[in-house]
Amino acid sequence: MIPVSTVRLGPEVEESVLAVLRSGVVAQGPVVAEFERRFAELIGAEHAVAVNSGTTALVAAIQALELEPGDEVITSPFTFVATLNAILQAGATVRFGDIRADDFGLDPESVRAQVTPRTKVLLPVHLYGQAADMRGLMTVAQEQGLLVVEDAAQAHGATIDGRGVGTFGIGCFSFYATKSLTTGEGGVVTTRDAGTADRLRVLRNQGMRARYEYVMPGNNYRLTDLQAALVLPQLERYPAQLAVRRANAARLSEQLAGIPGLVLPTELSGRGHVWHQYTVLLPDGVDREGFVDHLGRAGVGSGIYYPRPVYDYDIYRNRPDVVISPTPVAEAVSARCVSLPVHQHLQPGDLDTIAAAVRCALEAS
Ligand SMILES: Cc1ncc(COP(=O)(O)O)c(C=O)c1O
Repeated sequence: MIPVSTVRLGPEVEESVLAVLRSGVVAQGPVVAEFERRFAELIGAEHAVAVNSGTTALVAAIQALELEPGDEVITSPFTFVATLNAILQAGATVRFGDIRADDFGLDPESVRAQVTPRTKVLLPVHLYGQAADMRGLMTVAQEQGLLVVEDAAQAHGATIDGRGVGTFGIGCFSFYATKSLTTGEGGVVTTRDAGTADRLRVLRNQGMRARYEYVMPGNNYRLTDLQAALVLPQLERYPAQLAVRRANAARLSEQLAGIPGLVLPTELSGRGHVWHQYTVLLPDGVDREGFVDHLGRAGVGSGIYYPRPVYDYDIYRNRPDVVISPTPVAEAVSARCVSLPVHQHLQPGDLDTIAAAVRCALEAS
């Protein structure tokens, strides 16, 4: 089976983790600090604060903004549930703009229509490794006086006009096992503002500035040196890994070109795509379950990220803090999307196998 994602970390990572084990400092320590320095450098942020998951990164980022109950956050309906859960956990009310069909990120015009006097934060999601339309979204944010938190959980190193995602507003990254860079579980918040970075560091450590000096109610959001040790060797080879993913995506697009109704992902002008996922939209009327089963029988793994808009579940309906408006593009895209393997561990010939299986599955449907 060609898996849609796979975790293979290698001997340098084993050595790095062993060194931490032997050092005796296994909780947050110098390796976390080193990770923060190097990740900030990688994406071009002034400050990076490591936390224990991407979800925590989002919660902490919103908490650092000190919203009032009833303050609103506008986000994308086409995302992993963590984005929504984090907003609710931080005590805010959520509204949804619709997405653009070409980048799967928030559509600035649709965001503008959701702004109310209570809106404080715009929270775009950079899905699949491509930056959302930050030119348009930052214009709306500036016009409407909104703070910006970016869900960059899937987009480490993605750029727009050469600028890294996570540097426009407060950036939130995930280092979950299947992300392109991983600490097993982990997250990072990035910011250019020293005051915000300071609040985040205090929040992650029980609201303590110094021992028993509590300056706000906080939590334990800390990452450990053991986890950070996993990612340091990965940072070194990340540019080479991105080059392989980019080449894989280009080869898939070449091989899948011309299939009627099949929409292929593109790297939009001015955006540096990091190909966390290679996601196609199936032709209208194709039975997605059948398509995925067919791929599986041909030895090709695939994933559906995400099958419905995130608000479209019973637990989120009829909550006063979840305001749902129609998002027809997100509905249509979520009904047709399928992600194919594009990762750096694909073997020679795998891309041909994947493309042939897609053609065969569509012919059979
Ligand atoms: C878009 C998005 N947001 C948030 C998260 C949450 O990250 P984590 O799983 O590290 O908590 C993820 C990853 O799973 C994600 O894909």
